[in-house]
Amino acid sequence: MKKLAAGNWKMNGTAAALDEVRALIAAHPAPGCEMLLCPPATLVARMAEAAHGSALLVGGQDCHPKASGAHTGDISADMLKDAGASHVIVGHSERRADHGETDALVRAKAEAAIAAGLVAVVCIGETEAERDAGQTLAVIGGQLDGSLPAGANARTLVVAYEPVWAIGTGRTPTLAEIAEVHAFLRDRLRGRIGAEADGVRLLYGGSVKPSNAAEIFAVPHVDGALVGGASLKAADFGAIVAAL
Ligand code: G3P
Repeated sequence: MKKLAAGNWKMNGTAAALDEVRALIAAHPAPGCEMLLCPPATLVARMAEAAHGSALLVGGQDCHPKASGAHTGDISADMLKDAGASHVIVGHSERRADHGETDALVRAKAEAAIAAGLVAVVCIGETEAERDAGQTLAVIGGQLDGSLPAGANARTLVVAYEPVWAIGTGRTPTLAEIAEVHAFLRDRLRGRIGAEADGVRLLYGGSVKPSNAAEIFAVPHVDGALVGGASLKAADFGAIVAAL
């Protein structure tokens, strides 16, 4: 399976930031992994234009579970697809926290994404209190079960494990802790979708940077990364791409 380096720009970036995208594309014309950037919705179409004909894939950061309708401020998976996206992140912990998104809603969004022809990047992860209480596997197992879309297979689904306490903090789990979670997720997925689970990319996310990418990517069942802050600069994200 080809690994995946995915960048989540979160609520960052205006048109000027497309210079970083052009620099990334120029520096990595034929990366050894899949390379994906998920900018804010306002930039999806322009980034997709900039990426046209290159190895860079473009994705959204969220979508509505419905295809269209009276939902002011929301965008649908079909709209992202129309704008040039190939992927969409759903269930990021910031959306679960800021917008009260439940596993059931995340699942509905992932199913809408798949129906629109997008790859759903489903995010799960425990809080620090849950890890301290020894509940990590129970929490992420429950999130995976509750958020898993119907129609999930190696071509429609990516799962991103992002411990909430590691996001934007500079702190990461130990390699052994990442290994434990990723092996658990692979096994849990096998229980749900059988052998197809072996082709589903399991990303690690949370304070991935050029200096720790290689050691994290060497962990069994880590098939790439979902990168926040370090995806904003072409040099940093490019170094992570090169480590895969
Ligand atoms: O979705 C990626 C993210 O939450 C990780 O953010 O800044 O810790 O790499 P960061």
